[in-house]
Amino acid sequence: MSSILVLNGPNLNLLGTRQPEIYGTTTLNDIEDKCVSHAKSRDVRCVCLQSNHEGALVDAIHAARGVHDGIILNAGAYTHTSIALMDAIVSTELPVVELHLSNIHAREDFRHTSYIAKAAIGQICGFGAVGYTLAIDALLAHLENG
Ligand code: DQA
Repeated sequence: MSSILVLNGPNLNLLGTRQPEIYGTTTLNDIEDKCVSHAKSRDVRCVCLQSNHEGALVDAIHAARGVHDGIILNAGAYTHTSIALMDAIVSTELPVVELHLSNIHAREDFRHTSYIAKAAIGQICGFGAVGYTLAIDALLAHLENG
C-alpha cells in the first residue's frame, strides 16, 4: 500500500479563523480528515503533520524517506524563504507536490518566489481546501505513471 505525508507549515494550524477571506473557513482538522478519507478511498495511507518550526519541517521531510512514497507540502510563508526546505526535498529525493490554498501568483510580489517549486514535481494553488485532494490525486498519478 502506498503511503503519503501531508505536511503543513507555519500558521496553517489557524485555518478556519485566519484571514478567512483569503484562506477560507475550513479548519486544518477538516482538511486532514478529508485527506485521510480521500487517500483511503484510493487505497493509500495518509499521515498528516503540521509545524510552525522550519527545522521540524526539515526533520519531517527527512523522516519521510523510506516511510512515505511522496509528500504534499504547504510550507506556508517558508515557501518564499526556505532554502533549507528546498534542500531537504532534493536530499530525500521523494516526489513533493507544492500546495497553497491561495493563488500565490496573484498576491504580493514576495509570494511569487517559491523555493519549494524549484524542488517539487508540481504546484497546485488557488483552489482553497479542495487543492489538498487535487494534490493527492496529482501525486498518485505521478507515482502510478512515473
Ligand atoms: C499559503 C500562502 C503563503 O504565502 C502564506 O504565507 C501562507 C499560506 C497558502 O496556503 O495560500 O501561510 O501557503
